[in-house]
Amino acid sequence: MSVSQPAGDAGIRRLGELAFAAGNAAAVQTATRLKIPDMIDDKPVPVEELAERTNLDPHLLYRLLRALTTYGVFQEVGGRCFAHTDASLPLREDSPDGIRNLVLWIGAPWTWRAWPLLEEAIRTGKSVIPGVFGKEFYDYLREDAPEDEQLFARAMTDSSVRSSDVVAQTIDLTGVRKAVDIGGGQGLLTRTLLDRFPDLHGVLFDFEQVVAGAHEDLKAGGRLASRATVMPGDCLKSVPVEADAYILKNLLDWPDESSRAVLRNIAASAPPGARVIIIDSLVDAHPDEMRITTTLDLFLLMNVGGQKHSLSGFDKLFAETGIEKLRVDTVPGTLPRLHLIQGSLRRK
Ligand SMILES: C[S@@+](CC[C@H](N)C(=O)[O-])C[C@H]1O[C@@H](n2cnc3c(N)ncnc32)[C@H](O)[C@@H]1O
Repeated sequence: MSVSQPAGDAGIRRLGELAFAAGNAAAVQTATRLKIPDMIDDKPVPVEELAERTNLDPHLLYRLLRALTTYGVFQEVGGRCFAHTDASLPLREDSPDGIRNLVLWIGAPWTWRAWPLLEEAIRTGKSVIPGVFGKEFYDYLREDAPEDEQLFARAMTDSSVRSSDVVAQTIDLTGVRKAVDIGGGQGLLTRTLLDRFPDLHGVLFDFEQVVAGAHEDLKAGGRLASRATVMPGDCLKSVPVEADAYILKNLLDWPDESSRAVLRNIAASAPPGARVIIIDSLVDAHPDEMRITTTLDLFLLMNVGGQKHSLSGFDKLFAETGIEKLRVDTVPGTLPRLHLIQGSLRRK
């Protein structure tokens, strides 16, 4: 392609859509916050009715919904009536897809103040949040934006609910006696694994304040308590538990030195041959998926100075910490798609 030739319509149109992507994001988040998806059931609904229920001018609301239909979010049926599509139905609060809170989280108010500083983030490799809000990201959420903090928790819980069954079906822990879920949150995956593998003992490992809210099934007296240990700790300091398998799901989102520290802490406690199972999305997987994961990578850079890895990035981390790669599997039906990257600790 020559610089002196016009680029052609397709490239220009793609660029135009990309340049307006913030407008599309705002439109989908606005319609979701207005609960338009919840106002439409099986039948198309006239815009006048939606406008009355949202206390908006029908023509202004029509303009919002028309913009969304061009991306297949709602469809206009007949004149000015709107029906669901496969991309608007998941935005209902009662949708089993569990994507609504994630959509709102991706467009939470802080993001609209942080994205303009993307250039600073890619210059420094650091979070832009202290510069905008005067404190680290999680401190900002906890102290200044409790609604966003709750939204974050709901979005993360929804995404775990969505993925834990399929993840548990994809991991084969046959013959594994003890598995630790490091950074396992409140234990949804641990519970699902204990239900699937009746001989397994599961250890839920996370910060003290997080495991304090561990699921009742795992706590003393709970349904699975005889096969569960709830262990508070900081995996960057140590992972003081000997097990056959160490699971790290959506945990290694931080700078590489921290990821190496956790893997070395595992190696220090694990018996030789123990399995390390990373469950994460990848920035170099299928192109459709990369549109999400590569932007998520920038999102993490911007908020916590973090990152998403490529498969070769995980290979490098394994090689640096004495882990031999065994296999990679894809977990179906997850967004962004999760991959299981399994390795085995070399003999000491
Ligand atoms: C992105 S969440 C993932 C939660 C869960 N594994 C999942 O996939 O739904 C990261 C989890 O790691 C925990 N975490 C972060 N740093 C940690 C550390 N240094 N030690 C222990 N847990 C940590 C957080 O508290 C949080 O529960």
